[in-house]
Amino acid sequence: MYTVASFIAITYGRRPVTRPKILATHPLFPEARKILDAAGEVDYWNTPGAIPRDELLKRVADKDGLVCLLTEKVNAELLSAAPKLKVAATVSVGFDNIDVPACTNRHVVATNTPGVLDNTTADFAWTLMLAVARRLVEADAWLRAGNWTGWTLDQFCGSDVWGKTLGIIGFGRIGQEVARRSQGFSMRILYTDSRRVSEKIEEELRAEYVPLDRLLAESDFVSLHVPLTPDTRHLINAESLRKMKRTAFLINTSRGPVVDEAALAAALANRTIAGAGLDVYEREPQVNPALIPLKNAVLAPHLGSSSLETRTKMAVMAASNVVACFEGRVPPNALNPEAIAR
Ligand code: GLV
Repeated sequence: MYTVASFIAITYGRRPVTRPKILATHPLFPEARKILDAAGEVDYWNTPGAIPRDELLKRVADKDGLVCLLTEKVNAELLSAAPKLKVAATVSVGFDNIDVPACTNRHVVATNTPGVLDNTTADFAWTLMLAVARRLVEADAWLRAGNWTGWTLDQFCGSDVWGKTLGIIGFGRIGQEVARRSQGFSMRILYTDSRRVSEKIEEELRAEYVPLDRLLAESDFVSLHVPLTPDTRHLINAESLRKMKRTAFLINTSRGPVVDEAALAAALANRTIAGAGLDVYEREPQVNPALIPLKNAVLAPHLGSSSLETRTKMAVMAASNVVACFEGRVPPNALNPEAIAR
């Protein structure tokens, strides 16, 4: 069992006798590398693309710390392959890639990167909303193909966003930021969540708490901001899509499996709903082939938090969580602080 005392023993006071060994499954950014390199011997996966699973299991075998991405599963298999591991830090807010109870059993602290990406991800939900409603991607491709011969009255008529009803499913930090941005668009906000927020927040964001079915029936835009859990898997399925307006749009910047992708592709093809803006997919990086030809779908490769500023902050946060652990502190973003036996 690892104790705080054993973490501290690595670096406490004097020059460390043994520097912790850390695996980073991505080269990260210079700001984060600086933090990690000062704390231990870091093995960076520098090859483009996700680290293959067998390589990950091999490299993690002698490591004390792991900085990983949401593409790497930290599960029983990995934990068995990494007997010395004390901390696993994912560079993401979502942590469905981490089996937290399994980490706790093994006294491995798991951490994520909450807070720093809320605004950037909310911006991206809005990017998708505007792009799909105003047919921007479709029109851009058409113009580049040399099709534009002049302005006409009915070219790429899309749907208004301003003044419409926005339904937000999952009203945590990101969902609330999406709502905040709607005020400049004079929109009505409906939200649903497992918990109602305070009256103060509802008033400030002019948001009305409603049951899911009512949100689906009344919203012109439905934006998803729930974590992936057994309860939210396929929350949006053929039945819920049928409850939406035929003129409505679905926006997903949460997790792919929250939506039944085959059912969504069918609803888009049949115009059961008007369109979708998607950033996440059920089996990333694969995208259901039925979505590809659909002009009423805007498809992004999981870019929600992808501004240089925000991704740098996320990497720095993950590196700092790892270092905190080796300095004998509970990492600020520990998902299972109880994993550290005192
Ligand atoms: C991205 O999807 C994240 O969870 O940070």
